[in-house]
Amino acid sequence: MKILIIHGPNLNMLGKREPEIYGAETLNDVNSQIEALAGELGVEVGFFQSNSEGEIVGKIQDAASEYQGIVMNPGAYTHTSIAIRDAILSSGLTVVEVHISNVHKREEFRHKSYVSGVALGVVSGFGIDSYFLGLRGLVNHLSD
Ligand code: DQA
Repeated sequence: MKILIIHGPNLNMLGKREPEIYGAETLNDVNSQIEALAGELGVEVGFFQSNSEGEIVGKIQDAASEYQGIVMNPGAYTHTSIAIRDAILSSGLTVVEVHISNVHKREEFRHKSYVSGVALGVVSGFGIDSYFLGLRGLVNHLSD
């Protein structure tokens, strides 16, 4: 089984970006820990980060030929992107939405997600553990 991990805009700045909200670990740190967990779970993972909505849409469109599911932190596009939602629907892939912070505890504009309604599930507020919980949940679901 192969799972794609997508990090949306500004997640390349992890470690430097508002560390009181997003923590001290860099994107490379996060990806190595995801890779280690994938090894334990016996699945392969691929990684993609982009600050561009169009590139994320393109990656989702191409993903079905190689991947069985996606763990995605869409960043700010969570709250704005009908295009990402439509790409998920047309891909037919199972997607888990993850957020480092608890978006529901923050500004009102972060409470709306265009992705949640087409996701298998949402993990929000566990720091970078949100990615690990999301990956575990997705792999369990796809293994059933
Ligand atoms: C985020 C939450 C979003 O509201 C924000 O725009 C991000 C990161 C999170 O991981 O907590 O870029 O997705």
